[in-house]
Amino acid sequence: MTAVDDSGGISSDRRAVISVLRRLRSLEGQSNPHPLWEELRSMGDVVPAPWGGYFVTGFEACSQVLRGRNWLVPDIAWQERRLDPERWQAPATREMSHTLARLNAPTHTAQRRSLGNLFDRQTLEELQPGIEDHVTRLLDALDERLRAQGEADFVATVSEQLPIRAIGQWLGIAEEHHAHILDITHRQVHAQELLPTRSELAISAEATVQLRTFFTELLRERRARPGDDVLSGWIRHWDTRLDDEREVADRVLYYLAMFITIASLETTATLLSVAVWLLLEDPDRWNWLRRHPEHVDDAIDEALRYDPPIHLNTRVAADDTVLAGVPIAKDVMVHVLYGAANHDPRRNENPHSFDILRNGTHLTFGGGAHYCLGAALARLEARTLLTQLLKRFPALKPLAAPTYAPRMVFRRVTSLKVTT
Ligand code: HEM
Repeated sequence: MTAVDDSGGISSDRRAVISVLRRLRSLEGQSNPHPLWEELRSMGDVVPAPWGGYFVTGFEACSQVLRGRNWLVPDIAWQERRLDPERWQAPATREMSHTLARLNAPTHTAQRRSLGNLFDRQTLEELQPGIEDHVTRLLDALDERLRAQGEADFVATVSEQLPIRAIGQWLGIAEEHHAHILDITHRQVHAQELLPTRSELAISAEATVQLRTFFTELLRERRARPGDDVLSGWIRHWDTRLDDEREVADRVLYYLAMFITIASLETTATLLSVAVWLLLEDPDRWNWLRRHPEHVDDAIDEALRYDPPIHLNTRVAADDTVLAGVPIAKDVMVHVLYGAANHDPRRNENPHSFDILRNGTHLTFGGGAHYCLGAALARLEARTLLTQLLKRFPALKPLAAPTYAPRMVFRRVTSLKVTT
């Protein structure tokens, strides 16, 4: 990459990357990140990050990192080798280091095997009537609000409610706790952002304690009254496997239940909001899908490709390696940019056009050993919601473009005002 410039030692490329990152995090960048992803990709498939790692922008290179055996997730052992203790030793960051997404083999393999295919065909069939029912009730609430006030916030009324109801139904979390869990999740997520500030880390630390309290109590109650449910099944599995080590089993169970819950919430809510916005934004698109509901799944996949709920994921090199021609030393971080990859014109032609019939490919659920465990549930929720919405609200329209939280990693739509 290019040389040092003459005004303070920062290379022009580094400055260009910093500028893109700043704009990606801004409200404007969140509402339209495509030109910024394009700008980064124009710098190369593998672009140096200002803090020493790399951004991976091209589809093939991202796919290679996600699926390759020579790439690891940055686990606790890696974090302990860092020289920036404040960033990596922050309580909320360390807590996340024990979750499935931050484990490497063999611990990751054992935990993932214990879960099996969480949402196989039979489980989805069992969950479907409950999800239909949640959607019906949420759309009743939307209807009521639209009649009473003439407008409603789709995010608060529907998108954020459905995922917590779905996961609550599956794991047995009573409705009275849903608002609390949503609130903790929104606050905890700062620690998983790319460059959290000190005050964001403090907010996350507090939320982490609350998460621990909630899920420890949930497990204690379930142990006291085990049943035929998913969580009781996990408890039986880990108690048998870790015979005599109840404390270790409880730790594993806490991290699994807590992480799977929080992994399911903002991600799915963002998918629901984004999909509805992308359809409503163009009335012809909305009306076409009303006439062709057999393409609802295609519309969901195109929304996943077009605007992924998670923008970025991180891996580290297991050994010295070369990625898209760029030598990368062992332990160096690379940030996979899902959105940039999904909009790589070498993979998806005319990538910035939202085309329901595109049959494109995306990396939105990741890839390889860490591929998202909840993809089928997220799709089921989106399919159920869109199918009912198209039938019940043919004249739905947006009042304004959605608003977003200023995030780099976890995209969050904060509001989408609609009317009829
Ligand atoms: C649209 C919604 C969702 C999106 C976009 C999404 C995306 C992702 C991504 C990108 C990863 C990381 C994959 C990688 O590192 O290669 C992931 C992992 C994961 N997701 Fe999802 N997710 C969604 C919904 C869900 C739901 C509903 C659940 C649970 C019910 C869930 C549970 C998980 C878990 C447990 C992991 C960690 C897997 C592992 O590390 O082995 N996700 N997800």
